[in-house]
Amino acid sequence: MQRGLGWLGAEFEVAVGPVAHGGHCVARHEGRVVFVRHTLPGERVVVRVTEDRHPGFCRADAIEVLEASADRVERPCPYSGPGRCGGCDWQHADPAAQRALKAAVVREQLSRLAGLDVDVTVEELPGGPLRWRSRARFAVDRSGAAGLRRHRSHDVVVLDDCPISVEAAAQAVLSRRWPGAGAVDVSVDSTGAVTTTRLDRRGQPTSSRVVRPGGDLPEEPSTRAERRAGGRDWEVEGTGFWQVHPAAADALVAAVAGFAEVRPGETVLDLYAGVGLFGGALAPAVGADGRVVCVESDEAACAAADANLAGLPQAEVWQGDVDADALAELLGELAGGPDVVVLDPPRAGAGRAVSRLLAGTGARAVVYVACDPASLARDVAAFAEGGYRLAAVRGFDAFPMTAHVECVALLEPATS
Ligand SMILES: C[S@@+](CC[C@H](N)C(=O)[O-])C[C@H]1O[C@@H](n2cnc3c(N)ncnc32)[C@H](O)[C@@H]1O
Repeated sequence: MQRGLGWLGAEFEVAVGPVAHGGHCVARHEGRVVFVRHTLPGERVVVRVTEDRHPGFCRADAIEVLEASADRVERPCPYSGPGRCGGCDWQHADPAAQRALKAAVVREQLSRLAGLDVDVTVEELPGGPLRWRSRARFAVDRSGAAGLRRHRSHDVVVLDDCPISVEAAAQAVLSRRWPGAGAVDVSVDSTGAVTTTRLDRRGQPTSSRVVRPGGDLPEEPSTRAERRAGGRDWEVEGTGFWQVHPAAADALVAAVAGFAEVRPGETVLDLYAGVGLFGGALAPAVGADGRVVCVESDEAACAAADANLAGLPQAEVWQGDVDADALAELLGELAGGPDVVVLDPPRAGAGRAVSRLLAGTGARAVVYVACDPASLARDVAAFAEGGYRLAAVRGFDAFPMTAHVECVALLEPATS
């Protein structure tokens, strides 16, 4: 186990430097890096060290602001701040400044991990910085009270409300107790139906309940929810994956379609397809002579994707893992290989092996949807080794108040 330098709890003054990936800024003290939360670049603050486990760096909270940034605002959420709820990172920053911070992080990750100098803008989504979270997991403490965890802690901060959550989601979970549960997932669909799923202390779902606007249907056999994006409705399994921000799926579909510029007769691979959002949105453009193959590992998501793609005979759903072996097999079955690949992997990214395999297909366009700019940058570097260049990247502020950012990147063969 690595050890720190005994700074835990120490308080000192620092000049705050640039933002870093993860919702903090970089400062230095006695030659050591200090990752400081609750501050902004250019501020002078007093910090208290909250974690000291590595000789090279420690973590700290800004507990007093001596010289404030012009971007600093009053936190709209009464539960946020040093030592409190860890759900948000940038409550103290003006929303436009939050987007600039996220753009700086995407630029820095692409520079450091992929060696690229790219200009990135993070675009605002409609709806404002609060009440956007339509899907969330709340933690439950031993007394059955729900809330969110403190930053890098198992402690539950009990909440009466979560102002970034859609009101119906916050109310459904935070207005009652959940004795014996370890966590509760909640999702509000585009019809206003609220699905709550109780999880045990090992994170396993134990029961679900759907409350639809017209009435309460507890313990329904089906928890199918409806979401809207790209001008149509999509079936989703209750609290299963769907973009959290109500405007995000629409914005991402438009960005993916704009980068892919799919033509009639083309073959499109939609990897990590969820309920078939991107494949389903692109299928009309390939037409009856084209083909769309959606690959997704989750059984319930595949069942929903089958339903979503039912009217599109050119689209099919393959249930399975996107890994090097399965992908090699799939590529072998695709006569001529894909013209366009869309991939939207979970936070860890697709990884080097999958990225290199995809680069070997010669697809004319690879559209990469990423929720972690570090994973995106690592995979972009792997695609570059395979002869692909980053042609464009757009950022979306799909998670206001938090450090998270969604990116859509276009990779093309470097020779095109
Ligand atoms: C970020 S979500 C994207 C879903 C979909 N593209 C959308 O926008 O709604 C990632 C999806 O990948 C699936 N997944 C995770 N690991 C996978 C793997 N190794 N192979 C295939 N699918 C995977 C998850 O179940 C999830 O549905």
